[in-house]
This record gives sequence, C-alpha cells and structure tokens, in this order.
Amino acid sequence: MHIHEYERYWIIAVVATLGAFLASLMAGAAIFGVRLPTPEGFVNPQRLDESALFAPDALGKHDRGDDHYDLHILARQFVFDVGGDLSAWDYEVGDTVTFYITSEDVIHGFIIEKMNTNFEILPGHIASASVTFKEPGRYRVVCHQYCGTGHQAMYSWLNVSEPSDDAEDVAAVEGDE
Ligand code: CUA
Repeated sequence: MHIHEYERYWIIAVVATLGAFLASLMAGAAIFGVRLPTPEGFVNPQRLDESALFAPDALGKHDRGDDHYDLHILARQFVFDVGGDLSAWDYEVGDTVTFYITSEDVIHGFIIEKMNTNFEILPGHIASASVTFKEPGRYRVVCHQYCGTGHQAMYSWLNVSEPSDDAEDVAAVEGDE
C-alpha cells in the first residue's frame, strides 16, 4: 500500500501528539499525584434527617480541639445551610477547618475565593477538604454552578481574624516561664 509522503507526516504528527498527551497524563498521575476528586462518602439525600453529618442539629461548626474545626454544610437553593450556627463562618488565623458538604436538591458549587478549594456539590455525595487559614480577611464562599434563578445570591462570607487576646495572653504566660 502506498502512503503519500505528506500523509505519512500527518500520521506521525497525530501519533506523536497523542503520545505526548498520554505521557503528560501519566507523568501527572505518577510524579505529581494528580487525582480526580473522589467523594468522601455517600449520603441518602431523601434521608438527611438521619444523617450523622447533615441532620439539622448536626449542621454547623464542631470544635475538634487543637484549633481544628469541622463545618457541616447543607447546600440547597439558594443557601449554604449551617443550621443557624452564628459562629459557623468565623475563624482565626491558624485554624484548620474541615468542610463536609452535600446538596439537598440540585448540583451546586463551593469555592472559597483566594484559597485552593473548589468543589462540585452533588446530591448524595459528601465533598470534603481541609483548609488552614494563614491570612486574616473576609473570604467569599461562592456557589459557582448555575443552580437556578437565585444562583447569583448563593454565597457566604468566611471571616478569619487575628488570634484573639486570650490566645496571646496564654502565649505570653508560657513565654514567661
Ligand atoms: Cu447553588 Cu449556584
């Protein structure tokens, strides 16, 4: 079979390009540890009342000690529900927050601006990640998946303050010893 010279060049170029793509995928997975996000677990969106994470009284902030908090959030049109916990969005520099989020209705998004946190929130899936806040400030938390007519109103503010005076007093006392 005769293959025209130019056609041969194109075949070589296509195979080389596919090979380069494949090599970059393998390098990403093997060397840089790139993985698709996997859900932390599953939850029945019809039975959230029975969920240890997302029942109404389980929502909000949970102090795990050592400046570590869990924050359970139920996303729904068009709010990030933290069960009315007024302190849920307030943290101090140095706090580590582990988010557990699911959706009650449709697909939502969850992105913390200025942080490397970006989820899709699917009904039935539990999304989770830990974030340590190093800079004080107001961090906007945005739903970035179009989820209905009120989508643009679906955001919250995370407030990260300098460590309180109490902590500084403790540090000062410890420093005196
Ligand atoms: Cu929720 Cu957009």
